[in-house]
This record gives sequence, C-alpha cells and structure tokens, in this order.
Amino acid sequence: MARIRFENLRKAFKDVVVIPRLELTIHEGEFFTFVGPSGCGKSTILNIIAGLEPATEGKIYFDDKVVNDLSPKERDVAMVFQSYALYPHMTVYENMAFPLKMKKTPKKIIEGDVERVASIIGLKELLQRRPKELSGGQRQRVALGRAIIRKPKVFLMDEPLSNLDARLRVEMRAELKRLHQGLRITTVYVTHDQAEAMSLSDRLAILNRGEIQQCGTPMEIYQKPLNIFVAGFIGSPPMNFFRCAVKRHQPLEIDLNGFNLSPCVESMPQGDSVVAGIRPEDIIVSEQRIEKDIEDTGNVELVEPVGSFSWVDVRWGGIKARGILDVKEKPAIGGHVMIRVKKDKVFLFDPDSGRRL
Ligand SMILES: Nc1ncnc2c1ncn2[C@@H]1O[C@H](COP(=O)(O)OP(=O)(O)OP(=O)(O)O)[C@@H](O)[C@H]1O
Ligand SMILES: [Mg+2]
Repeated sequence: MARIRFENLRKAFKDVVVIPRLELTIHEGEFFTFVGPSGCGKSTILNIIAGLEPATEGKIYFDDKVVNDLSPKERDVAMVFQSYALYPHMTVYENMAFPLKMKKTPKKIIEGDVERVASIIGLKELLQRRPKELSGGQRQRVALGRAIIRKPKVFLMDEPLSNLDARLRVEMRAELKRLHQGLRITTVYVTHDQAEAMSLSDRLAILNRGEIQQCGTPMEIYQKPLNIFVAGFIGSPPMNFFRCAVKRHQPLEIDLNGFNLSPCVESMPQGDSVVAGIRPEDIIVSEQRIEKDIEDTGNVELVEPVGSFSWVDVRWGGIKARGILDVKEKPAIGGHVMIRVKKDKVFLFDPDSGRRL
C-alpha cells in the first residue's frame, strides 16, 4: 500500500498545458476518484502516476520516495483500462495467472492465488472459458482479477465500467467497493460519471481544465460545493441556477423570482446580482397546498417519472425550474401546481467568480 503525493506537478504536451499545477495527497488505502468532463486531464494524471507518461515539472511520491524516474513495473501499480484487453487465446485462468507467470511465481502458488481471487470476484465457474465466451461484465471481472492477483501497491482504474450496460455498471460498482473494503489497496479511479464517483469514493477531486475545483468527501462536496462548476457537476439532475437581483447588501437581501430572501452567507456579493442555486430535489412541486417558506404557483411543462417519484419541469414566473413531484400526482401539462422551496436549501454564488458566497 502507498500514499501518493503530487508536488507542484505540471504537464504540458508541447506547448499545450494540460495540468497547470497539481498539489495533492492521496492517503494510504484510500479510494480516490478524479471526476470531470471529457478532456479535463483525468487519464493524463493516471498515466503520470502509472509511469506511462512523464511529468513536465514537479514530483510524484509514493510514500516518501520520488518515483518520477521509475518505470511502471518498478512502481508496482496495476492498471485497469476502459478497454480491458484480455488475451483472447487464453482461458480466464491463464489470463489471471499471466502476471504471476511473468514474475516466475511457482505453479502451486499461482493455482492457489487464481483460485482465491476467482472466488472473491465470482469467476470460479468460468476459469476454463475464453474471453469470447464471456459477457462484458464477466470480462471486466477477469481484467480486475488480473489486476488484483498481483497485490500491487496501487490500483489505477481508468473508466473501467464505461463499457458495461447500466445495470451491470451499478452491480460492478458495488463489487468494486466491496473489493476495496476487503483489500484496502490505495485506488485511484477516473470517471466522468459523477454518480459513480460519489458512490465509490472515500474522497474525490472535481477537475476542470486540469485544475482541481474541489477535493473532499462525497458529502462535503454535495453539501458545500465551492463554486458553480462543482455545484452544477455534482448531483443529478443538475442544480437549477437563477440570476437574482441584490436588493440590499447589509444585511443581504435578494429577490428570488419575486420573493425576498435574506440568506446566510459567508461573504457578501460584490455586484448587484447573485446566482441562486437550488437542487431539483429541493423544489417540491404538488397539486396540493404546501404552506411553508417560499411558496408559489407555476405551470407544468414536463413530467418524467423515475419510479418512486417524478422529476417535473415547471414554468415558475419568469423562470423554468426542475423540481420533484410525488409519483401519485399526475398533473396535466400546462396544469397549475404549487411550488415550494426551503429557504435554507438555496445556495448563492458570485456571478463573476462563480464562487459560493
Ligand atoms: N499525447 C498527447 N498529445 C497531445 N495532447 C494530448 C495527449 N494526450 C492527451 N492530450 C490532451 O490533453 C487533454 C487531457 O486529456 P485526457 O486524456 O487526460 O482527458 P480525460 O479527462 O481523460 O478525458 P476523457 O474523459 O475524454 O477520457 C486533452 O485536451 C487531450 O487532447
Ligand atoms: Mg480519459
């Protein structure tokens, strides 16, 4: 197991700077995720940890040792990629045994290890099959098994579940989490899927253009997003954002769609407007009266049932908002509904810097 530390890391491809400056410690045994939109530098960071890509500047430490000049093999990392390239002519057993064979491990030990890992990840019945005789999820498990069997210092995973269908992805997600809880090997995971990042990670870093926007536990990030980017990226469906006029600065009073709010903020807005952010799950829509806090009426534009509740788009005065609706309620499109927002569920952001106030 290892702690991974980046000190002043910079990465450029020729004159294109991909990671301007990364300063971060990933704790020993932690499940740490980099999440962010396509092209933000996630795979680049993972490849730098693996030793597949050199850093342009700065140092990478495993515990207290600088590893910049070590080869991938010397770093003792196991990487699982999105395309899990198994050897097609080998059986599941041979695929999993391969890394041990390369290390000249005695046959008896290999047999024991393959057996043990195969039972951990539920492949015992499939050891004699070839990859083409397996489902996508089973292949993914073999690739994981092949990574686990080496007992590496660090696991690196680059979108390992993105080839799987939605159900398998959720199943494998749980499996990965169980696996990590059992092995406690430092795992660095990369995904663009915020739900995956939230459910798997001990901590995550949200990246945008190679820069960490926020780093913390899933709950910290969900409850206290530092800026509009993070607030809009984490949570599904995404947070609603509304531009609001500042009516008074001291004490702060804003106009949210005709309602006067005096929200608690840590810092005062500079200009004469703010951006209010409200998560869809905090905008309660109903055909019944719901007296509390901000309460208003609106008109239904779209209802999207998702099982135990429905998402609903409403036209609320001059704005359009997404809220939540009890699944038993089935208002007509254009129908009149009540809208309720708890005042303490409103986030405020500075429109220029994007920072939460
Ligand atoms: N070998 C390379 N040469 C030049 N530019 C590169 C190279 N590899 C990556 N890049 C650029 O660096 C940026 C980050 O790429 P990276 O693959 O790390 O993104 P990512 O976050 O993994 O994206 P995705 O979610 O699409 O996989 C991109 O703009 C990409 O075009
Ligand atoms: Mg990538």
